[in-house]
Amino acid sequence: MRLSVALLCALVAIQAALLVAPSEAGELQVGYYDKKCRGVENVVKWHIIKALKVNRRTGAALVRLLFHDCFVRGCDGSVLLDASAENPHPEKEAAVNIGLAAFDLLEEIKAAVEHRCPGVVSCSDILIYAARDAASILSNGNIHFDVSAGRLDGLVSSAHEAQQELPDSTMTVQQLIDNFARKDFDVEELVILSGAHSIGVGHCSSFTGRLAAPAQQIDPAYRGLLNYKCAGHGNGNPAVVNNVRDEDYEAVAKFMPGFTSRVRKISDFLDNSYYHNNLARIVTFNSDWQLLTQKEALGHVREYAENATLWDGDFSESLLKLSKLPMPAGSKGGIRKKCSIVSHTLPY
Ligand code: HEM
Ligand SMILES: *[C@@H]1O[C@H](CO)[C@@H](O)[C@H](O)[C@H]1NC(C)=O
Repeated sequence: MRLSVALLCALVAIQAALLVAPSEAGELQVGYYDKKCRGVENVVKWHIIKALKVNRRTGAALVRLLFHDCFVRGCDGSVLLDASAENPHPEKEAAVNIGLAAFDLLEEIKAAVEHRCPGVVSCSDILIYAARDAASILSNGNIHFDVSAGRLDGLVSSAHEAQQELPDSTMTVQQLIDNFARKDFDVEELVILSGAHSIGVGHCSSFTGRLAAPAQQIDPAYRGLLNYKCAGHGNGNPAVVNNVRDEDYEAVAKFMPGFTSRVRKISDFLDNSYYHNNLARIVTFNSDWQLLTQKEALGHVREYAENATLWDGDFSESLLKLSKLPMPAGSKGGIRKKCSIVSHTLPY
C-alpha cells in the first residue's frame, strides 16, 4: 500500500500531537492548570453545584465514574468513550458498568472548558475534578482533597478489559481483596472505598442473589423491602437506592417501621452510615455483606462505623489515591475535543 504525501504529513502531525502519558503518578501536579487554563477548577465546580442542586444522585454517578475510570487503564477518561465504527465495544458496554451516568454533564463541562481554553484540559482531569467536587458537596465538605492534574486522555477503551479489571458484586471477600490488591489497594482501602455505597442506586439485577439470601446475610425486613421494590412496577429491572434512609417513606413504613425516623428528606449524603447499615445487614450488594466475613475487613467495618471523622479523612485519601492510578506504561494519550470521541484519529 502506498501512502500519499499528504497522508504521511498528516500522520506525522498526529504523532506529534499525541504525547506519551506520564507513567509515574508523581508527575501529576496540584494547580497544573493555574497558568495553562486559569480558573478551570472553578468552572467545573460551578457546573457540579448547579447539577447537584437539580439532582444529588448525579454526584453519586460521578464518584462511581472516578472509580470505574481509574481502575481500568488508569484515570484516562477511557470510560467516557462511546462506541464507534473503529471501536464497537468500549468500556461503557461492559456488564459491570451497568448504570453509569453523568456523561452528558461531563460533556457539557468539557464544552465550557474548551470554549475558555481550547485543547488544554483533558477529559480525565475534568472527571476527577467533578468527582472530587461531588464528593465534597454530598458530604457537606467533610470529604475534601486537592486534585493533582496533568492526565492525558487515552485512546483505548475495551468492554472486555473493564469486565476483567472491575470488581463484581457477586465476588467473595477474597476475590474482592485480590482484585483491589492488583491495583495496590489493601483490605483497609477496600473497606474504606466501599463506603461510597452510602449514596446512589443499584439495579435489581446487581443484587439478585440478595433477594433470597438467608437471614444471617440480610435483614429479612430489608429483604422484603428490596423484593417489593424489585417486583417491577412495569419495569423489569428498576434501580433501588443503596442506602435505605434514602428510600421513600411509605415503603420503609410498610417493611421496616422501626426505621422511619431515619428516612431523610435530603438524599445521597456521603458518610459512614454504610458501615452501620452493613453491620445491621441492610446493604444491597453481596460484595458489601462479604466484608463482614473476613476478620481484618470486619474489624475495619467496625472501626469506620464507630468513627465518622476517621472515615471522612481516610475516604478522602483513598479517593485521591484512586485518582492517581496511571495509564499502562508507554500508553499514548492526548487532549480530546469531546469526551465521548477519540479525536486524535485522522479526519478521513
Ligand atoms: C468493592 C467493590 C465494588 C463493587 C463490587 C461495586 C459494585 C457496585 C454495583 C453493582 C453498583 C450498582 C450498579 C447498578 O446496578 O446500577 C454500584 C454502585 C455504586 N458504586 Fe460501587 N462497587 C464497588 C466499589 C465501589 C467504589 C470503590 C466506589 C467509589 C469509591 C463505588 C461507588 C459506587 C457508587 C457511588 C454507586 C452508585 C452510583 C449511582 O447511583 O449512579 N463503588 N457499585
Ligand atoms: C476518630 O478519628 C479521628 C481522626 O483520625 C481521631 O482524631 C479521633 O481521636 C477518633 N475518635 C475516637 C473516639 O477514636
